[in-house]
Amino acid sequence: MADLQGTSIIVTGAARGMGAASVRAFAAAGADVVAMDIDTAGLDHVVATAGAGGSVTAMPVDVSAATSVTSAFDAAVERLTKLDVLAHPAAIQRPGSAAEISPEDWDSMFAVTVRGTMLTNQAAFRHMKAGGRGGSIINFGSISGLRPEPIAPAYSAAKGAVHSWTRTAAAAWGPDGIRVNAILPAIATPMYEEAKARMTEDQQQAHYWQNEAAIALGRRYGDPDTDLGPVMVFLASSDSRFITGQLIPVDGGQSSVR
Ligand SMILES: NC(=O)c1ccc[n+]([C@@H]2O[C@H](COP(=O)([O-])OP(=O)(O)OC[C@H]3O[C@@H](n4cnc5c(N)ncnc54)[C@H](O)[C@@H]3O)[C@@H](O)[C@H]2O)c1
Repeated sequence: MADLQGTSIIVTGAARGMGAASVRAFAAAGADVVAMDIDTAGLDHVVATAGAGGSVTAMPVDVSAATSVTSAFDAAVERLTKLDVLAHPAAIQRPGSAAEISPEDWDSMFAVTVRGTMLTNQAAFRHMKAGGRGGSIINFGSISGLRPEPIAPAYSAAKGAVHSWTRTAAAAWGPDGIRVNAILPAIATPMYEEAKARMTEDQQQAHYWQNEAAIALGRRYGDPDTDLGPVMVFLASSDSRFITGQLIPVDGGQSSVR
């Protein structure tokens, strides 16, 4: 794995799942990390158990709120002295149907998942541009943003928006040396377990054939630490210096991005 000593990183959604695994991977590679989440109790546990390597500091944030993002990112950069990388897994997943989803559910999905991506990316861009050394922003899309998703229409639409934003931000900020990519994961996390638990038995069967059975490498969702962590380190490092504007599946072959 690449050596990230001297690399300053913010990770959102760091209290559990892929954000927590990203914190562990970055710290093990020697980076200095500020771990952010709305769930402060979960965050404290992740920071306390991150292991040896670089430094890890917890900071609360609500990625959907502009003032919260601005003050958390300013405080993080004051602590880190600079910002090289933003890893942004924070999001929510909610079920629904296209015919009945309410404006309130639609708006809360877009506030966290789409506005949150725009706000955190803009805050990272401001600090990276001021630093003058470029940077890497790693967003999180989804196979749900590539295909119809009858049991999660707002999530599907929101992830489609994250994909579009990622391409646009990459084109806009490339001249400043700032790369923007999105991971499209299929990784076993609390979000994945909770989504499955909400499904009826029929939906779980359909989910198996549409999702698990489509994973060529093992017919199962991946592990956050061993299957995702090294990819996060690669995208944070200069080894990925010529990759930007891409939707990158880390999903064992579940989807094929064209
Ligand atoms: N698990 C999968 O297989 C899968 C598949 C496709 C896409 N994704 C995407 O990958 C990313 C990570 O997913 P995960 O499975 O680790 O999710 P998770 O639910 O396990 O973790 C998400 C984290 O985001 C935090 N969060 C939620 N709202 C927030 C807010 N307003 N401000 C700050 N933090 C907030 C939560 O507290 C939580 O710690 C998400 O963007 C998700 O949509 C996951």
